[in-house]
Amino acid sequence: MNTSQSTSTDRYQRLYDRMAPFYATGMRLLPVWQRYTETVLPWLDKLQVSGPVLEIGPGPGVLLTKLSQRFDVAVGLDLSTGMLVEAQGRLRGAGLPARLVQGNAVQLPFASGSCAAVTLTFAFSAFPKGLAAMQEIARVLCSGGLVVLVDAAEPDDRNAAGMALAKTWEMFGDFMRDEADLMQQAGLEIVECYNFGAFHSIRLTVGRRGSTPRTSPR
Ligand SMILES: C[S@@+](CC[C@H](N)C(=O)[O-])C[C@H]1O[C@@H](n2cnc3c(N)ncnc32)[C@H](O)[C@@H]1O
Repeated sequence: MNTSQSTSTDRYQRLYDRMAPFYATGMRLLPVWQRYTETVLPWLDKLQVSGPVLEIGPGPGVLLTKLSQRFDVAVGLDLSTGMLVEAQGRLRGAGLPARLVQGNAVQLPFASGSCAAVTLTFAFSAFPKGLAAMQEIARVLCSGGLVVLVDAAEPDDRNAAGMALAKTWEMFGDFMRDEADLMQQAGLEIVECYNFGAFHSIRLTVGRRGSTPRTSPR
């Protein structure tokens, strides 16, 4: 990692460390946020391969707690040690194993093909290097494994309120991306992609690592 990369990573890490003690309270005050994150669960419940489920950017571990209740092995990887401390407290408080790793989405410390699923909620838009992160996700997925991603997005119908909301996220440093396109560039098949939520400004995208070359998108 060069100096400018590490400086920007350190800045993000400090920002999320500062947010960590308050983040879960914010989620409780905004129950719709938690409902948006839970849209990944029915997809993960449909997993047809077995193995660890990785959540990248679990923050304070609200969703990770649910994943740990559902799957034999659920692992959370986050850049922020402050967020990991919060997640550890939440998991231990629920009597669940706290499988947590400090790391960066662009350099996942997991073997190729080792994960049955990777999920991210409102985390991908925070990564400055979207394609590099998606290539890492594709690398760690096993054949038939799923990536299930929910994030803020430009609305599909480009309505004015949703576009203004997307611009606001960008002003706060987030990146509004076409995750399906990045998944395809990383060699994944698209299983599902749709906008929902307030002003159609939340998007769920599901990709799969195929065992054979893709023939047609869905
Ligand atoms: C906006 S919070 C989302 C938390 C939670 N998933 C949710 O849905 O509310 C983004 C999380 O991603 C983490 N994060 C940001 N950049 C990261 C990176 N490059 N690698 C791993 N985690 C990162 C942050 O530390 C933070 O916990």
